Amino acid sequence: MSARYRAGVIGMGQIGRHHVIGYRGVESVDVVAITEPNERVRTAAQQEFNIPTAYSDVREMLDRERLDFVSVCTWHLLHEPQTVAAAAYRPKAILCEKPMTVGLASADRMIRTCEDRGVRLVIGHQRRFFHSWTKARELIQEGVIGTPQMVTAKTGEGLLNCGTHVVDAIRYLLGDPETEWVMGAVERKTDRFEREVRIEDRCLGVIRFKTGAQALIQSDLTPEWSVDDYQVRGMDGVLETTSQAVRYVNGSTTGWVTVETGYDDAWVLQAQGLVSWVEGATGHRGEARQARQTVEILMALYQSARDHEVVRMPMQEQGYPIDLMWDEGKIPVVEPGAYDIRAFLAMEPDDRAAYGEMRRQGMRHKDIAEAMKRRHQ
Ligand SMILES: NC(=O)c1ccc[n+]([C@@H]2O[C@H](COP(=O)([O-])OP(=O)(O)OC[C@H]3O[C@@H](n4cnc5c(N)ncnc54)[C@H](O)[C@@H]3O)[C@@H](O)[C@H]2O)c1
Repeated sequence: MSARYRAGVIGMGQIGRHHVIGYRGVESVDVVAITEPNERVRTAAQQEFNIPTAYSDVREMLDRERLDFVSVCTWHLLHEPQTVAAAAYRPKAILCEKPMTVGLASADRMIRTCEDRGVRLVIGHQRRFFHSWTKARELIQEGVIGTPQMVTAKTGEGLLNCGTHVVDAIRYLLGDPETEWVMGAVERKTDRFEREVRIEDRCLGVIRFKTGAQALIQSDLTPEWSVDDYQVRGMDGVLETTSQAVRYVNGSTTGWVTVETGYDDAWVLQAQGLVSWVEGATGHRGEARQARQTVEILMALYQSARDHEVVRMPMQEQGYPIDLMWDEGKIPVVEPGAYDIRAFLAMEPDDRAAYGEMRRQGMRHKDIAEAMKRRHQ
């Protein structure tokens, strides 16, 4: 009889739900438990997904369930402590959400703890399982555009938030090259946070890889940032990819050649990858050692802005450069009033609906935060 695996999910918000759906798409995995402190959310999730046991406390779940897979689906600052706590129980693997963590020292502690306990650690850059991106990576490796020169991408809502997917995608498309240096510019005039982490208003970055390829990232600079597509210019051609298709052009093609790749649920493929790894496959596309390089690039973009210079790898700074710049008075707030662009996630349904309506009207996160405060006065 083939093995069956017991999975437990920590944090049943929007992404915890995707992890449950991912595990349920794999025949050999049973989601046996969830942990969620918010009673309304916990009860709703337990009923919807028919989960045998629901806890409000992580330790209780880890103590009582003998979990093979633990998903960490809470906000960023809980990723390290909950990964470390889960690793003590030696599950077969931990699947922790992106961004891996905030700061390089924290990423290294997560990796070291899991290695010491013999626990496989994967970070939720599930888009590595988009068929289109994998096809693009293969086409680039086959040489359809020659040696890659420059990748361009746009992102927004914070470099740590959506930007981590974008940096990870660039690395994946290029075959996961090592980084040579990074240069970044950061603007922070409003007191902006994302899931309780201080973040920038805008960022522009250049990444240089050891292969000679470079990448240009514009973050929160353009209104069309949410389109998740990439252009890779090579010595002999150009390739573009979205989440569903790839197209390329070179000297031998008569115009663009389009490859439709379709889409299978990346959350399911990510969970399937965990099982394969446990059953003997060599590694996982989302392995922490890949995510660590993405964290290093993100931190180096900030560090470059902090020091006004190119940051060469390996990066020396171990902390979170945005907080360090804040402490040093290098990014003074011009428009006072702290606000969190993901505050709506922690709201109850009525407030969340009001928040959503204001976003649909095109209001800035900062103005919405002030309107929400007035709503409760
Ligand atoms: N991979 C992706 O594409 C993707 C997309 C969105 C978010 N994320 C990441 O997923 C993580 C969670 O984001 P989200 O949007 O689901 O947030 P969310 O607010 O919807 O969900 C987080 C849940 O964690 C619960 N929680 C809080 N403290 C807890 C604790 N101590 N123990 C257990 N549960 C606790 C909250 O009550 C909430 O229900 C973030 O790090 C985010 O960056 C990943």
